Amino acid sequence: MAPEVKGVNVHDGGMRVTPTGMIRTAQWKIVPAAETVVKGSTQELLLDADALDRYEEFTGEMHAILQKYEAAMRQMVVRFEILDRDLSLRRNRNPIHHIESRIKSPVSIYEKLLRYGKDPTIGNLEEYLMDVAGVRVICSYKNDVKRLMGLLRRQDDLEIVRVKNYIENPKPNGYRSLHVIVRIPVYFMDSKEMVPVEVQIRTIAMDYWASLEHDLKYKAVAETHGLDIAGELQECSRIIENMEERMQVLANALDSGQSKHSKLGK
Ligand code: GTP
Ligand code: MG
Repeated sequence: MAPEVKGVNVHDGGMRVTPTGMIRTAQWKIVPAAETVVKGSTQELLLDADALDRYEEFTGEMHAILQKYEAAMRQMVVRFEILDRDLSLRRNRNPIHHIESRIKSPVSIYEKLLRYGKDPTIGNLEEYLMDVAGVRVICSYKNDVKRLMGLLRRQDDLEIVRVKNYIENPKPNGYRSLHVIVRIPVYFMDSKEMVPVEVQIRTIAMDYWASLEHDLKYKAVAETHGLDIAGELQECSRIIENMEERMQVLANALDSGQSKHSKLGK
């Protein structure tokens, strides 16, 4: 008789146990029956039966707590939308190209706690994970990133927990982006809580680079076509940096032209 196995399919929330004792995951990858696979967007966890029980218990408890991260995330998005609108009305600028937001998936939360050597508990989630709520703000130009950061610092009910400036100091692989952990107040019926949100502010070009690098990192590239992928990415990052400097000069010329225009009342 086939051994009893349980599989968690994170993508559709379903559970699949096949008669042959093989588990089919969302990607239809088949793995041996002895292992249970919890599949996230970027990683795969192999859990034994005990660990799977703990995972299920943890994710069950997590749902209530995720609400507050969702509230914090939505409020951060609105704050950026308001800044964009205000700059558009008063300065004739639209610094933000678009905004993305996400709540970390239960499997990623679980995996990250284990990676940090922490028990998967709600207490540890709240204490150690600063990126459960994430907001990514994509700007047109590099100066817009700086401007938004300056405006964020002036919001005095926000607590800036940590800033990592990978634009001034790119990562060795070429990654560029400005990361800020903020705590934003969320009001409940009888309490207020400062809830952390990871904010990433970057330009369209930085985002374009990061998306490709992310895909290359996680989708194991079988065929490299003789490319030095890491070297190419570093080189592309430098080209993008240089191009952005030049585009900024042109954008500045556009800005000063527009402000002269509006002073003349046209
Ligand atoms: P992690 O959240 O575990 O990555 O570590 P950390 O808390 O030190 O975070 P950091 O601020 O360095 O990065 C946070 C997030 O930025 C990551 O989860 C990614 O979304 C993104 N990021 C950081 N480094 C890279 C990179 O080299 N490439 C890409 N594509 N994204 C990155
Ligand atoms: Mg992260």
